[in-house]
Formats: sequence, C-alpha cells, structure tokens
Amino acid sequence: MLKRTSAIQSFLKCSSNLTPQYTAEKYALKRGDYGALTQDDQNHLISLVNGKGIVGEKELEGYNVDWMRIVRGKSELLLKPETTQQVSSILKFCHSKNIAVVPQGGNTGLVGGSVPVFDEVILNTSLMNKVEKIDPVSGVVVAQAGCILDQLNSELAEHKLMMPLDLGAKGSCQLGGNISTNAGGLRLLRYGSLRGNVLGMEAVLADGTIVDCMQTLRKDNTGYDIKQHFIGSEGTLGIITKASVLCAALPSSVNLAFLSVNAFADVRRLFSRARDDLGEILSAFEFIDNSCLVCLEENLKLTPPVDQSPFAVVIETHGSNSTHDFEKLEAFLESVMNDGTVIDGCVAEDSQKATNWWQLRERMAESLMHDGYVYKYDVSVPLDKFYELVTVMRERLGEKVLRCVGYGHVGDSNLHINITTPAYSKEVDQLIEPFIFEWVSQVNGSISAEHGIGFKKTQFLHLSKSAEAIAQMRLLKNAMDPKNILNPYKVLPLL
Ligand code: FAD
Ligand code: MLT
Ligand code: ZN
Repeated sequence: MLKRTSAIQSFLKCSSNLTPQYTAEKYALKRGDYGALTQDDQNHLISLVNGKGIVGEKELEGYNVDWMRIVRGKSELLLKPETTQQVSSILKFCHSKNIAVVPQGGNTGLVGGSVPVFDEVILNTSLMNKVEKIDPVSGVVVAQAGCILDQLNSELAEHKLMMPLDLGAKGSCQLGGNISTNAGGLRLLRYGSLRGNVLGMEAVLADGTIVDCMQTLRKDNTGYDIKQHFIGSEGTLGIITKASVLCAALPSSVNLAFLSVNAFADVRRLFSRARDDLGEILSAFEFIDNSCLVCLEENLKLTPPVDQSPFAVVIETHGSNSTHDFEKLEAFLESVMNDGTVIDGCVAEDSQKATNWWQLRERMAESLMHDGYVYKYDVSVPLDKFYELVTVMRERLGEKVLRCVGYGHVGDSNLHINITTPAYSKEVDQLIEPFIFEWVSQVNGSISAEHGIGFKKTQFLHLSKSAEAIAQMRLLKNAMDPKNILNPYKVLPLL
C-alpha cells in the first residue's frame, strides 16, 4: 500500500500566522438568542469531562479559526469528551441552558463549518479515538468518531483492509468529521460514497438523547434509515460518536500513471477510455491544470515527472494481480498515446515514486494557501461543461487575481476551482459570488460536490435545492434540534 505525506501536517508547519477577522464582524451577523456561559456553567461542563477542556479565547486560537484561515469565532470553552455518555451529558446541560455548541473533529473542513461563529462551546472529539472492532471476514470496522483517518488505516492494514475513502487531510481529519461532511476524496469513483459505506452509527441528539443505530449489516431494510440524517448534515442534527464502516480490501497491486494531455476534451475522452479499458481496476482519475503545476513549482518546489502541458492526469489502479494489472495499464497507455489522446506519460516504478507523484495532486490545497487568500470552490459540473467554468472565471477576473486554477475528481464530475489574491479583496469576492454559483446552477451542477455548505454557502443553497426541499430540511432541523443549539448559522440559510 502506498504511504503518503500528509498535506495538512506540512501545511501547518509553513502556514502564515495571519489572524483572520472575526466572522461575526466580517459578515455583520447578529448573535442568536443563546444563553451566555457563566462561570458556574463553565465549571460544570469541565467537570463533566473530568477536566479535559480548554478555557480562554487566546488558548483556543487554533480551534476558533478554520484551516483556510477565513473564519474566526470567539469561543471561550472547548470540551474534549472521552465517552458517548459524556457527550450526552454535555448536550443535555447545554440544551437545558440554551447554550449553542459546535461539533469539531480535526478542523480540516473547508467551508467554515467546524469553528464557532460567535461564542459557541466547541465539542471536540479528538479523545474519542478508539478502534473498537475490526472484523476481517466481513471487512467491517467499528470505531469512535475521533479516530484519525490515517491511524484508522494503519490499524486496518494489519487485517489487509483499508477505509473506503482517502483525502489529502488524512493525517488530521477524523471519522466523525468525514461522515458528517460526507467527504468524497480521491477514490470515490471506485469505492463509493460514505452514504453507502457507513453501515451503522451512534449519535447524540441536541437534548442529549443517544440514538443507537449501530448495525454492522450490509442489508437492513427495516424502515427509515435514521443514520443517513447525520451523514452530510455537518453537525447540525446530532453529534456522531461512533460508526461502523464497510472497508475495502487493501490492494496488493497498485499502479500510478502520470500523463500529459493537450485539451480538456482529451481528458474527458481519456476518462471514458480508462473506465472502459481498465474496468474494475481503475481506482482514481484526477486532473490538475497547468496553472496548478506552476503553483506547485513556485510555492512547494514540486515538479511533475513529465513535461509541462495544459493538463496533467493521474490514473491509479488497485487490484490483486500485479502482472495482469500492469499489462492492462500498459496496453491502455500504449493505445491512448498512439491515438494522440495523451502526449506524454510515465508509470511509477516503485511506491516512493508514486508517493511523490501523488503529492502533486494531494498538496494542491496547501500549495494555493501560500499565495495569501484562497477563494475555494468545490462544484459538480457535467463533464461536457466541466473546464468551461475555469475559462469563464479567468476572463471575468483577469489581472485582479494571482491565479485561477482547476483541479479535481474528474471521475466524479467534481471540479475544484480555486482563485487566489495576496489578501482578501471584497471586489474580487463580489465578482466571484454569486456569479459562480448561478453559473453552476444553470448547467444543472451542484454548488457543493463534497465539502458541504458549512457557514460559507448557506445563502446559495437555493441554487442547488428546491424551496420544497429546503422547507423539508428546516422541518427536520426543527424536529431534531428545536432550540437550534447544534452548529447554528450553518447549512440552512439564516432567516
Ligand atoms: P471538521 O473540519 O472538524 O468538521 C467538519 C464538519 O463536520 C463541521 O461542520 C463539524 O461541525 C462537523 N463535525 C465534525 N465532527 C463531527 C461529529 N463527530 N459529529 C457531528 N458533526 C461533526 N473533503 C472531501 O470531501 N474530499 C477531499 O478530497 C478533501 N480533501 C481535503 C484536503 C485538505 C488538505 C483539507 C484541509 C481538507 C480536505 N477536505 C476534503 C475537506 C473535508 O471536509 C475534511 O478534510 C474532512 O472530512 C473533515 O473532517 P474533520 O474531522 O477535520 O472535520
Ligand atoms: C482536494 O480534492 O484536493 C480537496 O477537496 C481539497 C481542495 O479542494 O482543495
Ligand atoms: Zn476534493
């Protein structure tokens, strides 16, 4: 199995220390009518977690600010429960006092969902990090919400298993955060979404009720699938404390190809060919455009293994027979090079090479942060319109921005379009939004393919959801959290 450097770890080492403006001030928001924490409340809450908490806004700097350094809350209290019972006691108390709470895992979310907007209490799951059971026969793992993806994978590898998702933040993101954002990542095209792979869950509701849906079965058609409410709801309906996940077999044969392509039409054709010719062994099909390559070189000194070209494509295969897989990949590459779809390419001859090449894709988010301020968009766009959005935005923004780049999960029709400026510019922001979301909506795309709505996209939700669907979302929220204490100001548009 390939081992990769965690993007997040190295980013944290080199990121600037600029402190963003308070979210409430930047967006002129009014605090909800929540109870203010008294000294007695604080003491009581800390006693519920046996002292495992942090007090004071200054001490909480790293938990009040998001990974993108765009939003900043002013919480004075962070709690680190170790058990589901403790999570339940915290919520029961906060519910009775009308105190708002923000659930937080690894704080790698990219839409401002994981940090407070005002003074919400932060409930951080980092200490709930036990892997409770791995069944090597069914391939099901039962683990607490605070398990870090990388560490979970290390334990699973001993049983020849791996998590069905992989992403650049794997060194810090946690299972609960992955599930509550319904994270997609690099191999969704092969292993499917968490909506299918999460088999069971334990979650705590806003009033402290523990909901036990801890199935480990693949098939269970006994009425409403309650766990789905918590998947992708970004901590607004309950706090996930534990889950059972269907893992994938750890592949014994892994190949990675790095290819140069001249036009996006060729990237599309290449994907179609890869799906047909590589079939069951195709595990990732990712692209980065030339502006990404320039950024990686300038900001991280990472260079591609092939000559610069308008587009680079990373194709990975996972299988169980190295001779068969390599022959299949070789025949495929020969064919797409002969017919001109690919202009240059190479296959990693060892896992170290593959690790290095993957960095060019996995560290894109980190690389862009070095420019200063990043306007990050994560959209689904039908493949026939996919790259057009980057061209349209480049024309619209011209010299006002440092970069406008496109990369992402072609296999899932998920485009990451990112724009950078040295510092936040309101003029650029207003040129991008709502234009970009309206464009996506007009081509029947989604304003969020995988990162979620969080704090940053609530007012654009209507561009991807009908009024009736949003009304149903509100009904569900009111039924499950009538006091709206769980992650307020997130997902649903502010009224
Ligand atoms: P956090 O950031 O702490 O929280 C995210 C959201 O979930 C918040 O709304 C929070 O309130 C809620 N939450 C957290 N834990 C719980 C819980 N136990 N119960 C209920 N709610 C909870 N995402 C992708 O989909 N695909 C990618 O390829 C991808 N790559 C990334 C690469 C990098 C370098 C980075 C920094 C991020 C990337 N992400 C990606 C974003 C992604 O959402 C997160 O990395 C991950 O899923 C969040 O996990 P976390 O533990 O950090 O959650
Ligand atoms: C990725 O695919 O690299 C992540 O979703 C992060 C990003 O969009 O930058
Ligand atoms: Zn992504």
